[in-house]
Amino acid sequence: MLEGKAIIVTGAGSGIGRASALAVAAAGAKVMVSDISQVTALETASQIRTAGGIAQIHCGDVSRSGFAEELVQATLAAFERLDGAHNNAGVETPIALITEIEEADFDRSMAVNLKAVWLAMRAQLRHMAKSGSGAIVNTASVGGLTAVPFNAGYSAAKHGVVGLSRTAAVEFAPMGIRVNALCPGLTRSGMTERLIQAAPEMIEAIMPPMKRMANPAEIAGTVVFLLSDQATYLTGQAVTVDGGATAI
Ligand SMILES: NC(=O)c1ccc[n+]([C@@H]2O[C@H](COP(=O)([O-])OP(=O)(O)OC[C@H]3O[C@@H](n4cnc5c(N)ncnc54)[C@H](O)[C@@H]3O)[C@@H](O)[C@H]2O)c1
Repeated sequence: MLEGKAIIVTGAGSGIGRASALAVAAAGAKVMVSDISQVTALETASQIRTAGGIAQIHCGDVSRSGFAEELVQATLAAFERLDGAHNNAGVETPIALITEIEEADFDRSMAVNLKAVWLAMRAQLRHMAKSGSGAIVNTASVGGLTAVPFNAGYSAAKHGVVGLSRTAAVEFAPMGIRVNALCPGLTRSGMTERLIQAAPEMIEAIMPPMKRMANPAEIAGTVVFLLSDQATYLTGQAVTVDGGATAI
């Protein structure tokens, strides 16, 4: 579904991002694997190559000003094109009532979960606008559509990702570029493993009607579809993959 395309995946060293990078590569794309952790990014790239795919890595902190532009340039240097991006890197915030959140934790969620998505899209859209095509998927969350009790900074940032994605979609539709937000529900990953350790009762409380978490590969299939030419009329949406959580 993605033959001949070159696609960036951030947060690709773990969880949803790793599954996305593997699925995007299996669908025929060349993948620029990016994460703040070089060790885990190398492992993802190694898994892609072992499976017969093509991957390069370029690592860094998505919230650092200038990184997004470097990542686009590294992708163009490696693959001579940029067709799509899955802006997926994200961090959880400590569980706390709104009145108890530390300012530094709120700021970190805004920087990594929200501002970095704008920085990434700014760099990607500038390039894609010149080529007149492209598709972007930004990982938001069901927490970008509904409340996340005890995680207000996370929920606020993810609501912001939905708004950024819709706005970018409207602004860049005339240039042939599609932008969608992806809203996963509970998914097995490093993030949820840490939440299980910190507050297992919270996981139980937010279990969807399917009564299980998604495997990351179940989220990655939708990423491949959204980045592919099967989705050429699909833009500006918050696409929910959540085991029925938001149907209640
Ligand atoms: N797991 C879930 O239930 C769930 C649900 C909805 C949305 N999400 C979102 O999915 C995305 C992926 O999360 P995950 O669940 O796979 O978690 P994860 O912790 O397994 O993976 C996140 C990856 O992002 C990387 N990362 C963190 N900060 C970074 C930074 N500043 N720069 C570059 N890379 C950075 C980490 O190193 C890690 O590899 C996140 O945006 C998260 O908010 C997760």
